[in-house]
Amino acid sequence: MIITDSEKQISDLCEEWRKEGFSIGFVPTMGALHDGHLSLVKAAAEASDKVIVSIFVNPSQFGAEEDLDKYPRTLEKDCTLVESVGACAVFTPLSSSVYPDGFSTTVSVSGISEGLCGAVRPGHFDGVTTVCAVLFGIVKPDIAIFGKKDAQQLAVIKRMVSDLRLPVEIVAAPILREPDGLAMSSRNKYLSVDEREQASLIRIGLTAASNLFQKGERNCSELRKMFRLTVEDASLLNVQYVDTVDPDTMVRVEKVQNSVLLAVAVFAGKTRLIDNILIKSEV
Ligand code: PAF
Repeated sequence: MIITDSEKQISDLCEEWRKEGFSIGFVPTMGALHDGHLSLVKAAAEASDKVIVSIFVNPSQFGAEEDLDKYPRTLEKDCTLVESVGACAVFTPLSSSVYPDGFSTTVSVSGISEGLCGAVRPGHFDGVTTVCAVLFGIVKPDIAIFGKKDAQQLAVIKRMVSDLRLPVEIVAAPILREPDGLAMSSRNKYLSVDEREQASLIRIGLTAASNLFQKGERNCSELRKMFRLTVEDASLLNVQYVDTVDPDTMVRVEKVQNSVLLAVAVFAGKTRLIDNILIKSEV
């Protein structure tokens, strides 16, 4: 497996693969990889001939008060893991090469990126879309895989790709969970034992809301309330938002017609965790 921080090397390699008729699957990450990421790499390996993983802790998507400096960096282990599940190359660009002197472009997807996480992390999605546009430009993948845990990120990226007619197919991969239901996240590493234990209530709350829907409740305020009720007694959990939205547009839904995305952000101590569930009729 090739590991390089050189943009030229990675774009030459992709060019060569394309000439040889190989399709390219791309998994952009910020490293500190867990099984959730590895499932994205596996999905890319199943759907394409050559898989590239990027590992870049993108400064432009972190707010001033956020965890850029302490974000876990485990490059050597990450490379071993992705190689074991079929990656052909790991691209680890430096910030100075992603954003060279004179870099002046921001890709901003309005509307869809403004609620939920966008409302509490101003500028976050501009950072995500800008770096993804840069990485897509370098790798020129046929497909790029994004996890459904970051449901708003997925919707924003899909909108960007569609609006800019970027020649890449965005593939959504399911959320991977720990045995107690907590969604896998690089930030789970920050949790204390007690926070980790209480964090499992997030999934329980999402499921409780979904169960309420299955019993016939269509009023979203009741679904949101059910989530809050489930987590509110946990002393270390603090709900930042609970919202019910259309999964494609992220527009608030008040009465469920066919389906609704219940999306939440919860602090466990100082660690911000996000999760969601697509609520729809069981067939
Ligand atoms: O989901 C992430 O890890 C990041 O937001 C991404 C897509 C790699 C962009 O930096």
